[in-house]
Amino acid sequence: MSDRDSTDAAVADVGRAPVRVRRARPSDAAALVTLAKLVGAEPEGWLVTSGEWRSRRDERRYLRAVHDSPHAAVLVAENGDEIVGRLSIVRDSHPACAHVADVGIMVAHDHRRQGVGKALLRGAEQWARGAGIRKIELHVFPYNDAALGLYESAGYDREGYRRGHFSRAGTVVDAVLMAKHLPR
Ligand SMILES: CC(C)(COP(=O)(O)OP(=O)(O)OC[C@H]1O[C@@H](n2cnc3c(N)ncnc32)[C@H](O)[C@@H]1OP(=O)(O)O)[C@@H](O)C(=O)NCCC(=O)NCCS
Repeated sequence: MSDRDSTDAAVADVGRAPVRVRRARPSDAAALVTLAKLVGAEPEGWLVTSGEWRSRRDERRYLRAVHDSPHAAVLVAENGDEIVGRLSIVRDSHPACAHVADVGIMVAHDHRRQGVGKALLRGAEQWARGAGIRKIELHVFPYNDAALGLYESAGYDREGYRRGHFSRAGTVVDAVLMAKHLPR
């Protein structure tokens, strides 16, 4: 494990779940594709994607590209050897919004409500501070009570309501825009 990985892992132990959060490595690709497909296929429709995801090869390539990037990170939550959660954070590409980053998160069904999501968000905030990010934002479907609860409990505010913002499985859906300003 690189120094960068182990530094990130240290943060995550503050959660109440017995998980460790660290930067994702290219070798995590297969587990992350499986996790994304499973969560994406849940009938409630939590994610913009609905079961389809990048191939393992493309995921590996993506993880390699972001591993040392100052503009994006993928974090994983590990329970022993098992990856039970993933968080992606990407800096806004507009120069005027370079202090803003967008987050996406998923936790394996059987590991929810144990603090994994919160630990991943904490890890994201640590990465964000190091990358000069001052604001983290995200979109969440209005019916996703678990995610709304997680973000609110972590200090995210509702900033807006975006009608027909995403096209999901052939249907246009609304989204709540939430954000958190990081203290300096
Ligand atoms: C949303 C999600 C990431 C939450 O992860 P998690 O690991 O279960 O969340 P945590 O255990 O860290 O929960 C932290 C807090 O969030 C809130 N919360 C979590 N799940 C909740 C639920 N089902 N209902 C209400 N509040 C909930 C609670 O305040 C909770 O604290 P508490 O357990 O002390 O009451 C997880 O449910 C998930 O992966 N869902 C499917 C994918 C998804 O919706 N991703 C987000 C898309 S925007």
